[in-house]
Amino acid sequence: MTDITSQTQAALAAIATATSLEALEAQRLDALGKKGWVSLALKTLGGMSPEERAVAAPAIQTARAEIAAALDARKAALETAELEARLARETLDLTLPAHAAPKGSVHPVSQVMDELAEIFADLGFAVATGPEIEDDWHNFTALNMDETHPARAMHDTFYFPDKTAEGREVLLRTHTSPVQIRAMQEHGAPLRIIAPGRVYRSDSDATHTPMFHQIEGLVIDKDIHLGHLKWTLETFLKAFFEREDIVLRLRPSYFPFTEPSVEIDVGYAMEGGRRIVGGSGDEPGHAWMEVLGSGMVNRRVIAAAGLDPDEWQGFAFGTGVDRLAQLKYGMNDLRAFFDGDPRWLAHYGFSPFDQPTLSAGVGART
Ligand code: PHE
Repeated sequence: MTDITSQTQAALAAIATATSLEALEAQRLDALGKKGWVSLALKTLGGMSPEERAVAAPAIQTARAEIAAALDARKAALETAELEARLARETLDLTLPAHAAPKGSVHPVSQVMDELAEIFADLGFAVATGPEIEDDWHNFTALNMDETHPARAMHDTFYFPDKTAEGREVLLRTHTSPVQIRAMQEHGAPLRIIAPGRVYRSDSDATHTPMFHQIEGLVIDKDIHLGHLKWTLETFLKAFFEREDIVLRLRPSYFPFTEPSVEIDVGYAMEGGRRIVGGSGDEPGHAWMEVLGSGMVNRRVIAAAGLDPDEWQGFAFGTGVDRLAQLKYGMNDLRAFFDGDPRWLAHYGFSPFDQPTLSAGVGART
């Protein structure tokens, strides 16, 4: 008994003065380890008379509990001390000169997406996202393209071998339009969103890459008409190209998910081997170029997304972000966008400090 008491006192003293986690571990092994004295003392209980055991057992258990508690307390104290010492030792030099800091640049696609988000935020649009790995219901069926629709074949879709739990085909989304469905399902109406992101089609040459970027726009509300669509796109294109003389031509077209559908052309002229957007395409020296697909959202799409098409209607548009970047900043080969060549990035990239803002001009280069 006295033996256990004095051994416990000695152990508690050693634990209280241990100065490292290693020393503490040695104390733990010495007392509570498999061959530690507490463990050995517990083993002797079996050979005792019931009367002896009734006295010895609680004493050993108490010793074990006291030592375990002391070990925990000391461990916590040592860890706190170590953290404080590290915080005092390690310093962060905030005085590094700025010119030594960023070596990278913002890719033109990221820059243009930021510009678009800024422009549309000013018009009251929120940014929505959806998965790049989609199912064929969101990518096609809900957008009024059932299994037999010829537009499906035109999309050069990458399919995965597996199906979803509901038995849907799994694919890489071929456009950002499935985000229309997801946004309506998630947020209901009214709704004003843009959805920028990556899309995939099995296609590759100087003007097509298997992965490229689109931005989708969707407005759902009451009494929305084609005039709202035209004003929105005109306002957006003027802000994006930073000129007032943007002229739009609306051309009847066909998309399964819009009715009526309109393709939007802008006038441009060639200057120094580059297409410069501005003016009417009918002016001398000018021509028209298609920049956006759009239309009034098809009733069947609104219904597929769970809204009542008699109550809600709206417009949608979609366009290629890479192509917008090419038009605005004048790179001609799309493939170079995704080569990661540091010389190309140094030339066409943007400063990370140069955030696009409407007040400073969305495309400002410092
Ligand atoms: N999703 C169409 C495409 O990829 C573009 C589009 C979007 C057209 C929205 C109309 C409305 O070509």
